[in-house]
Amino acid sequence: MKNFLLVGNGAREHAIAEAICRNANVRLFAFMSANHPGIAALARKSGGEFAIGDIHSPAQVEAFAEGKGISLAFPSPDAVLAAGVTDALLIAGVPCAAPTKEASRLEWDKAYCRELLRDFRVPGAPKFGIFDNEKEAHAFIDACNGEVAVKPSGLTGGKGVKVTGFQLKDGAEAKQYATELLSAKLGGKVNIVIEEKLDGEEFSLQAFSDGSKIYGMPLVQDHKRAYEGDVGPNTGGMGSYSDANHLLPFLKREHRDEALSIMQKTIEAFRKKTGKPFIGVLYGGFMATKNGVKLIEYNARFGDPEAMNVLSILKSDLYTIFEQMAAHKMTKAPEFEKKATVCKYLVPEGYPVKSVTDQPLSIEDLTLEESGARVFYASVYEKDGTIYTQSSRSIGLVGLAGTIEEAEKISESACSAISGKVWHRKDIGTPELLKRRTEHMKRIGAR
Ligand code: AMP
Ligand code: GLY
Repeated sequence: MKNFLLVGNGAREHAIAEAICRNANVRLFAFMSANHPGIAALARKSGGEFAIGDIHSPAQVEAFAEGKGISLAFPSPDAVLAAGVTDALLIAGVPCAAPTKEASRLEWDKAYCRELLRDFRVPGAPKFGIFDNEKEAHAFIDACNGEVAVKPSGLTGGKGVKVTGFQLKDGAEAKQYATELLSAKLGGKVNIVIEEKLDGEEFSLQAFSDGSKIYGMPLVQDHKRAYEGDVGPNTGGMGSYSDANHLLPFLKREHRDEALSIMQKTIEAFRKKTGKPFIGVLYGGFMATKNGVKLIEYNARFGDPEAMNVLSILKSDLYTIFEQMAAHKMTKAPEFEKKATVCKYLVPEGYPVKSVTDQPLSIEDLTLEESGARVFYASVYEKDGTIYTQSSRSIGLVGLAGTIEEAEKISESACSAISGKVWHRKDIGTPELLKRRTEHMKRIGAR
């Protein structure tokens, strides 16, 4: 038996735990910040253990791991990586399939990431500038005619980026926001990144990296905006879909190849700069534009919800993949079922502005089971057999089928089996939404 340590407790971690536990020779040990009913059940069933504590404390995670014969660990969320949990485990002699604090800097320091790619001539960057003073920041915004994305350098839970035409009305508001960020030190960094505003369709490419080579997973499209028709405030992601051919209906194989090549060059650049390998899951957020594929950002982890899409169809053994990554040597590309997936997130009423919390959910078990959907708990807790909501996304429901259209129906029927003070985006994965994506690509002349 192998003892595997997972740190984290969202729906993404539930999907990781579920994939790990498909291997009957693995015991799951989970260190979590709340009592996640799904992960706790998997840990118990596999013969492992779980505990609740501060997942961002390297000392607490290490203390939980100690004496348990952990053969492999996977610290999962961004802030856990940025806190150096991987580093502490490695020092304690526990192999990890996740990046160190230094390697995850690709995610937690956007200025560092853009500079690295520029210095090593990795293609795919929009026009950008890094600023620590207002005057130069404003001049750059003027030079882009006010059409920009303004980003704090540090981690902000996906909510700090503002773009002209969306969260910012015009160049004047962009300047105001830049000024505000420079004085607020949001995310703990004094500098900000400003980029030209790109137009195109976004897609997520997640890849396993053993430090030398990366292995891409099926492409996924997430939906960051809260409301149907892609309007409203940004969220952590309201749902996502992937296609049976592992591309997306509006993309060609060349888009994926281009994105994968940017990611391969990135881990090579990181190695050249630091002398160290990037071990872990690398997630590229890309946009297909009329000037080709552009990199919007990196995450040094699985995406949430995207992890639920890809791990639900992973055929290869995730423990073996992680083990080889940790040993800096993957031997072959992981395999995925040729199925389409649609994930919809149930979120609390009021999310993402002001969530109503601590509400019981009523789940019709039979209807949920009959839907055939996979169920991944996120920000919920269990008390006396009832599931209660917290302030963030509640439950991810994933349909798997031969086509996106069928998978969408499965996910939708699973959503209807759960009632309470929650709601979801009904348009994700529907034919109408997919048509809009394709039309958008045509309209902007994307290639
Ligand atoms: P990020 O946190 O960097 O992924 O940014 C959040 C969202 O802002 C992205 O998913 C995009 O929708 C948008 N965004 C970021 N950078 C740009 C850009 N240069 N042009 C247009 N939109 C952007
Ligand atoms: N789905 C976006 C993220 O995981 O950051």
